[in-house]
Amino acid sequence: MTPRTATVAIVGAGPAGLVLAHALRRAGVDAAVHERLSRAELEATARAGVLEHRVVEYLRALGLADRLAAEGERHGRCEISCLGERVVVDYGALSGGVRHWVYPQQLLVRDLIAAYERDGGTIAFGSPVLAVAPDRAGHPVLRTAGGELRARYAVGCDGARGVVAAAFPDGAAGPERRYPYDWLTVLARIDRPVAAVRYAVHADGYAGMMPRTADVGRFYLEVPAGERVEGWPPDRIRAELVRRLGRGGGDPRPGELLETGVLRMRGRVARRMRHGRLLLAGDAAHTVTPSGAKGLNSAVADAADLAGALLAELRAQGGGGEGGGAALEGYQERRLAAAWRTQEFSDRLLDLLHLPAGLPPEQREFALRLRLERIRRIARPGPEAAEFARAYAGAGELPAAGVWPPAQRAAVASCATGR
Ligand code: PHB
Repeated sequence: MTPRTATVAIVGAGPAGLVLAHALRRAGVDAAVHERLSRAELEATARAGVLEHRVVEYLRALGLADRLAAEGERHGRCEISCLGERVVVDYGALSGGVRHWVYPQQLLVRDLIAAYERDGGTIAFGSPVLAVAPDRAGHPVLRTAGGELRARYAVGCDGARGVVAAAFPDGAAGPERRYPYDWLTVLARIDRPVAAVRYAVHADGYAGMMPRTADVGRFYLEVPAGERVEGWPPDRIRAELVRRLGRGGGDPRPGELLETGVLRMRGRVARRMRHGRLLLAGDAAHTVTPSGAKGLNSAVADAADLAGALLAELRAQGGGGEGGGAALEGYQERRLAAAWRTQEFSDRLLDLLHLPAGLPPEQREFALRLRLERIRRIARPGPEAAEFARAYAGAGELPAAGVWPPAQRAAVASCATGR
């Protein structure tokens, strides 16, 4: 069988892989996208749902946000309850107008796939990449069930423990932290929409209530590390949610539980996101806890940056020569720095939302009282609140690589196909 070839092989068709594929395609660079899951499985996997301002602006510039803008909801306030007080953080105002969009990840993935196919692209669903190894020239060769795929670059957008990371000499290892608690995760029917993200800081553990769609909400409960979901029948989950979240008159009530699980809370950043012609983006390079909703957003930010870096590298190769890798090193440097900023933000929010591990009951009120001070500080106009609000909502811009003048497109397209 003759091996297939592509300029860029993308492993994983989640948000990072799809955004990268789109951005490359717009510049005339061919990508081969392989996804382990079937299309139906991928499009049904409910995960994140809160998109940062800068991510949506980037998608909009690529023409990929039409349905999101029509059907998504803008959110600029969250609520944090503690010791019976419910503090509203109007981060939209505190940040000077930066807000989130609420739009379920699986709908975004559907939109990105549909648009990619409309543009003439194809995605190999149900087609895992089994292994990646360099050939003698250092170009990646990917082994799939359908034969070999040879590419100039291979990008792992395939989540933690992905196959591209496994081809790094150190397996893309890096510093990590296992938190001393887990989050029970729940997708539940609700009788009215979640109007704002709610965090409850509670003596018995954190609880969260997050918007998804008009009749489905995402809920979280802090549980001891290593907890199993079997110990949590639906009635216990519902009762504990209501108890920790508090019962406001207009609050949605969790009804039928559609999905439950336990999320092992950990943070991790690989030491490297590039090894030669192998690159990593999103969860393949870093794991962040859900706190602050940064996982999906930082994955798309990686993809946006990497698209620009790959195009710069291909251009520097000038139709066949070697591009030195400076643009790809730049990608790694910028995105590792960003990954640590994200970890610090999520860790800081976690610290606010949880009491210290093992705190005896008689000391919990004191710890809660301190947290209430911190909550008030990020809700009250001032430099700290503005910094929190801008980081939370994703102020700023992602680098746009989407729109190129025709001459540049032609130059990159010819060097991309001249392997
Ligand atoms: C979520 O939508 O799942 C979410 C939102 C905000 C958070 C954490 C999770 O801080």
